Amino acid sequence: MSENFIFEGHDTVELARRFGTPLYVISENRIERAIKKIKSAFNNAGLNYSINYAGKAFICKAMCKILQKLDVCLDVVSGGELFTALSAGFDPACITLHGSNKSEIEIREAIDAGIKTITIDSISEIDIVNKIASELHKTANVHLRLSPGVEAHTHEYIQTGRIDSKFGIPINMGIRAAAKVESSSNLRLTGLHCHIGSQIYSSKPFQIAATSMLEMIYNIKEMGVEITELNLGGGFGINYLQDDPVFDIDEYAVILSKTFEKQSKELGIKIPKLIVEPGRYIIGPAGITLYSVGTVKEIPFLRKYLSVDGGMADNPRPALYKAVHHAIIANKVNKEANDLVTVSGKCCETDTLIKDILLPKAQSGDILCVFNTGAYNYSMASNYNRLTRPAVVLLKDDKAEIMVKRETYENITINDTYPSWL
Ligand code: LLP
Repeated sequence: MSENFIFEGHDTVELARRFGTPLYVISENRIERAIKKIKSAFNNAGLNYSINYAGKAFICKAMCKILQKLDVCLDVVSGGELFTALSAGFDPACITLHGSNKSEIEIREAIDAGIKTITIDSISEIDIVNKIASELHKTANVHLRLSPGVEAHTHEYIQTGRIDSKFGIPINMGIRAAAKVESSSNLRLTGLHCHIGSQIYSSKPFQIAATSMLEMIYNIKEMGVEITELNLGGGFGINYLQDDPVFDIDEYAVILSKTFEKQSKELGIKIPKLIVEPGRYIIGPAGITLYSVGTVKEIPFLRKYLSVDGGMADNPRPALYKAVHHAIIANKVNKEANDLVTVSGKCCETDTLIKDILLPKAQSGDILCVFNTGAYNYSMASNYNRLTRPAVVLLKDDKAEIMVKRETYENITINDTYPSWL
């Protein structure tokens, strides 16, 4: 029996040998399965919906192609993400733009490209978007991002629906914002938006947020404006560790469908189309990272450090959020995991990738496989210590090909210039 870990039909040790390490590996089949799971839950619950994948979790041109193939829309959060999507030929009518501090250039590029909606994040942004739309002689469809004041049980840094947050318009200012949009010559208010946080396991906070948002749709209708879309953001949790709870997408769909139906009826409003913006749920479990083990340092009676050839530059989540990822030694899957180690990255600071994990006894040259790294790893990677960003390999059935090339030293020095006095 092979000692090597097989991921979606591929020998990971062979992938590491063929493409080098550190290496991000993404499974297209897993992306497909996650999207199918959401679609079937939403279809079974009888929802009228759109899935707008959150590009911030992971985006590159090939990813845009996959999304388009799977009939999924895309939410971008910057000019760079928009440019990536448009250069991949992504249909602008299926793109939405977010951001708490969009630049005028980004707004102009988005309206000019004819994207579906711009999500306005603050009262002051209304005038800016309207000015740019009128300069371009266009009418922009906009959503208003409201902060409903829901506190989701997740890490403080990824909790974004609170009133005391840089994101969104406080819900009690929603009417004022809607009136301002309505009186803007080149804006059309088509929806409301909220995003209560990320890595949420329960449907309850989404239901509470939906209730407040539907109430707001009613209040806006009283002003004579009919809202047709309600975007409840992303945030569906995934289990990084085996004991983590599982987010029940079927339960979410049923609860949301019932809430939409019942409350819309009571309020006398048309049931809005539900838009969701999951990122992590779609791409997180689709990705793993492969590293080579280098130095093994044992401090007797204290700790054993296993150093790998990547770290916080390719996965800043442990350093930023104390995030925990599961890992195995990919070439020793049948060996007992009885050696307690701390996995360190190679950056020139503490750079703890995984604190205290039981692995089989490892040595230099072994391959470490870290799970659930599809979301917010490549997209948050840096060149700290002038490390080159790893390649991303895409798996589809029995095929494995590069979707993002490994950076070279030339890539990381290409923008360096010499001021005239040097
Ligand atoms: N929509 C909006 C407006 C968002 O701000 C986010 C994430 C999403 C959708 C997608 O959320 P997801 O389904 O992926 O949870 N870097 C952090 C996560 C930051 C999330 C920011 N906003 C991490 O690595 O955990």
